[in-house]
Amino acid sequence: MAESTLEIRVNGILHQASDPPGTLLIDFVRDSLGLKGTKRGCDGGECGSCTLLLDGEPVCACLCTLGAVSGRSVTTIEGIAEGQSLHAVQEAFMAAGAVQCGFCTPGMVLSAVALLRHHPRPGRDEIARYMNGNLCSCGSYSQVIEALESFAEASGDQ
Ligand code: FES
Repeated sequence: MAESTLEIRVNGILHQASDPPGTLLIDFVRDSLGLKGTKRGCDGGECGSCTLLLDGEPVCACLCTLGAVSGRSVTTIEGIAEGQSLHAVQEAFMAAGAVQCGFCTPGMVLSAVALLRHHPRPGRDEIARYMNGNLCSCGSYSQVIEALESFAEASGDQ
């Protein structure tokens, strides 16, 4: 019997994966595709460092298998730049000083992108609630909230 092929679109590029279906998505993007922006923290769905977008929604890549995401679209931090420019949410993080060691930042930014797509002008409580799956051991939470509030305000001015 022919082996079935797993097809996964990552950052707009369709990949035919030869990895076993039980391979974790975090290992596929980091090791097979070399996209090291997705970070491995707790490896158990607790820290959010490995967050990426699956069909536009944040998921923990350490909890997803390739077999479970076959046929779907994944966006990693490498896939959100706008041409040669950073994504506007990345710019907002930089402007607010919301990056300290940077380990949690890719996951934080991707969660923020999803939040702002659903709720273009979230309040402080809504930001805190939505982002509570992304932990930061440096404690940059208040700057992250400030970044997203600034982004939302600037979007409302346009
Ligand atoms: Fe996936 Fe922590 S490494 S949630």
